Amino acid sequence: MGGAPQARAMASTPDSGRVGPLRRGPLDLVATGDFTSVAGLETGVSGLTVRNLGRAILTEDGTGYLPDPPWVLAGTHLTISGGFTMTVELRDIGGEAAVLLAGRPPIVYDEFVNDRGSLRVSVAGSSARARLVSATSRQRAVEQRTWSVPAGSAHRLTIQFTGTLGTGTLRIGVDDRDPVSFPAHGLFASGQVWLGMEAATVNGSFRIPSWQVISAAGSKVAAVDTTPLRPGDQPGMGLQELATVSHPGFLIGAALSASSLYSDPAFARLALGGQIGLMTTENALKFQFIQPQRGLYEFREADALIQTARDNGLAVHGHTLVFGEAIPRWVRALPAADPTHMLGVMIDHIRTVVTHYAGRVRSWDVVNEPLADDPTSDGLRRNIWRRTIGARYIADAFTAAHEADPDAKLFVNEYGLEAHDERWATMRGLLERLIGQGVPIDGVGLQCHVYDGEDVIVADNLRRVLREIADLELTARISELDVFGDNPRIPTDHHQAEQFATVLRTCLEEPVCESLTFWGLSERYGSTSWLDNGQLEIGDGLPWDEQLRPLPAVNAMRTVLTS
Ligand code: XIL
Repeated sequence: MGGAPQARAMASTPDSGRVGPLRRGPLDLVATGDFTSVAGLETGVSGLTVRNLGRAILTEDGTGYLPDPPWVLAGTHLTISGGFTMTVELRDIGGEAAVLLAGRPPIVYDEFVNDRGSLRVSVAGSSARARLVSATSRQRAVEQRTWSVPAGSAHRLTIQFTGTLGTGTLRIGVDDRDPVSFPAHGLFASGQVWLGMEAATVNGSFRIPSWQVISAAGSKVAAVDTTPLRPGDQPGMGLQELATVSHPGFLIGAALSASSLYSDPAFARLALGGQIGLMTTENALKFQFIQPQRGLYEFREADALIQTARDNGLAVHGHTLVFGEAIPRWVRALPAADPTHMLGVMIDHIRTVVTHYAGRVRSWDVVNEPLADDPTSDGLRRNIWRRTIGARYIADAFTAAHEADPDAKLFVNEYGLEAHDERWATMRGLLERLIGQGVPIDGVGLQCHVYDGEDVIVADNLRRVLREIADLELTARISELDVFGDNPRIPTDHHQAEQFATVLRTCLEEPVCESLTFWGLSERYGSTSWLDNGQLEIGDGLPWDEQLRPLPAVNAMRTVLTS
């Protein structure tokens, strides 16, 4: 749809790509919007076709799955100054067809979703449903309505928003009959409308031939395109820019996600403006997101994220091909007793994903966290791959990745190697076995999560591990550094800046250490943040705070890079 003349005529702004003219007439999103990077969605002459993805998020305790419907992140959303009426034509409905709207898109982690307020309107058979989650209620519905509609495979959905942005009222109708109405609970306080669409039934699908938006009297509605996202270089020297001067070739990186980059221009400026030269795909390439159903590889979202990184001069590290977590339902339901079957699934996944990204992803976490928390007989975690395929899954994974892209650098990634001697000893044993078998492995990722006092990294210890990695003729990368924050009640506590500086300095001093990556940049989207019983607890382990202000750690690292 991107080729439509109206879309091309859109003017450009530095923050968010093309912005449509503020308009009063109807806006036809299907004709003018960019939906090419939406998971599960195909664009064509007959409109948008939405297919069931079955994407879901495995909860941390491994017992259940949370819904993960597709959102338009890289692509079109709306800015509004007040009320609007949206009319969505739904055709050829198989199963449940849902349209989603949000003031800010949800932040998707691999174990939970931070829903920042969303409306989901759906029809299935002869029943319609509207469900509103507010910004503060998180996962819980604050409004919910179910009503009857004429049975049929075609419906017209009308969503009307009236009143002021911070409060407002929603009126939702199907086929122009008996609309339901309820308060919007500040859904559009941001002045933005982000779009989602979901074919929610297994094998279900539907088509959207037309999606019109009309602004209310006195209100303005415009379509905004988030791609291409090129916020440009930021004033002053970023960490990567300093590193490039003092240590050419050394990369500073961060784990990043699509929702934060595309929906937050200030964050995009921080992430893409010179602080980093390497992006790790925080969650986008994990198994449950990339192959949510057997043989259904959904690359569109991750492709956009990787394209944006590369457009802005960032190299890309792929995380992760084989991991015991973030596994889709269908893999967990496979017959565990059949090792050949599981091996086939693992190899197919690796081959397909690595081949798809050959030339775009420079390095991979082929196997993530293979070690047990408390070493068992062979030290290996009894994850689903180890339990079914056996210990050989690691060697087989590396071989498959190497065959798919001989130029990619292949890493095993693990926590605690830098701070816990017995974990490093176990990893060393594993590496020696792999090297002995001629397995094509290039290096080790030291996660360096400093979550509490026990994880504190001592320079000499890290140095010794790095040198032993060099002795094995492997490469090392610091892959997921974050450090719990200083205790505000102890004014002399400056351990956070000290730890960031120590790890960076030690890495720079040891030639084997090729790069240093933070597990995120800002606590606004920090992976040490946590959602517990609907309460969001903001973490404190990253170099920039929730307001995107640099913590002392940033200055400490700048000093290391320039001295
Ligand atoms: C983290 C994700 O970033 C979070 O979004 C998720 O909720 C928990 O997992 N080591 C890893 C990463 O290799 O995959 C983990 O990622 C953090 C620990």
